[in-house]
Amino acid sequence: MELTRLRGFQDLIGPQAQTLAYVEQRARALMERYAIGEIRIPLLERIELYQRSTGETSDIVSKQMYTFTDRDEAGSVLALRPEGTPGVVRAYIEAGLDRSDPEQRFFYSGPMFRRERPQKGRYRQFYQFGVEVFGRADPACDAELLIMIDDLRRDLGLDFQIELNSLGDATCRPAFRAALLEYGRQHWDELCRDCHDRLERNPLRLLDCKIDVRLAEQAPKSLDYLCPECRRHFETLCDLLKAAGVQFVINPRIVRGLDYYMRTTFEVTSSNLGSQNAVVAGGRYDGLVEVLGGASVAGIGFAIGVERVALALHAARAPRAQLPRVALIALGDPAVRKATELARALRGLPLQVELLSTQRSLKAQLKRADKIGANYAVIIGPDELARAAAQLRDLGASSQREVSLDRLASELAGGLAH
Ligand code: HAM
Repeated sequence: MELTRLRGFQDLIGPQAQTLAYVEQRARALMERYAIGEIRIPLLERIELYQRSTGETSDIVSKQMYTFTDRDEAGSVLALRPEGTPGVVRAYIEAGLDRSDPEQRFFYSGPMFRRERPQKGRYRQFYQFGVEVFGRADPACDAELLIMIDDLRRDLGLDFQIELNSLGDATCRPAFRAALLEYGRQHWDELCRDCHDRLERNPLRLLDCKIDVRLAEQAPKSLDYLCPECRRHFETLCDLLKAAGVQFVINPRIVRGLDYYMRTTFEVTSSNLGSQNAVVAGGRYDGLVEVLGGASVAGIGFAIGVERVALALHAARAPRAQLPRVALIALGDPAVRKATELARALRGLPLQVELLSTQRSLKAQLKRADKIGANYAVIIGPDELARAAAQLRDLGASSQREVSLDRLASELAGGLAH
């Protein structure tokens, strides 16, 4: 047996990992400005959590979960989390927040697992950065989340399209569901096997069928069935987004593949990607806390597909601010001692500082400095050390001059200012 990585799983090495970390870091910075606190939840949960929230008829639960029977838990079936929302809701209820302090805003970041058919932008382990807000039923909250996504887009220098829909609520959904069921029955002979299996239990799934696309397009639309409350919620949301200058389109086909949504649903795509172009998705799930055993509390959230945003950044070649890089080259033991001390001091400046292997020749170290893309090389040999100085080489301009060690930091800082 060859010890290679599994299909659909990735090793993220160097720049690839860095781009992911960059997206997460920018998203984290945004969370701070929106006063959203972090939540960390387990990677493993009982399968029932997903069956009762994501839904038995969803592709995720019916086909894609990694599950196993736990020896310790007397036959419990556990699942690697395919998404974050159910775990966050469970944790929120388990901490008693639904009753003691229902209005909460959380973000989470980490890997999710789905046994999907792998392709570019679709993996079996992928990273999500998600936000979940509880206790807010007002459309201003829906708007705030979409503005947040638009802020991230702007910060990253990307081009996103926001597509918005409303699925209605317990009042108006039954009529829409009945219309879909009727439509599905009328077109029974044209439906795929999955749609046959799911139509009676969950006719909404017909709308995100990847096979019956034409039928889905002509199917009844939830927007035509909204009750006055849901219509008002949706119209207010659209109005608030316009007021905030967020561009969006209404797409009645955004039903989402997960069962818990009601009212607002949205998907955000990036034109920089191929077929797997949904970079963010989410919506409102007002009944979910109650379904999972908590109080009747509203909820809404979204999750960013971190790899997909990283791919979009790569495709757009969006320029990313990077600190100038300095390679420290020391020749001989006394110089190594000085360079070790100096490296620590220079890291106090907005610089990336790397002390190169002290066992290599000057020529080999300069070659290495080039290879790692250093902007400057700081060279300290025995002669420089004796004069308490260093050679400062600008690798871009191929120029070099001697600088006294006590002026090196200010020289580098001066160079950064230009
Ligand atoms: P989702 O649409 O299943 O929603 O996933 C959200 C995002 O995760 C997708 O738009 C995509 O960017 C990324 N994603 C999903 N599957 C994969 C995959 N196999 N490979 C790479 N990226 C993927 C949810 O997960 C909901 N929990 C979102 C939510 C939060 N709704 C309310 N709160």
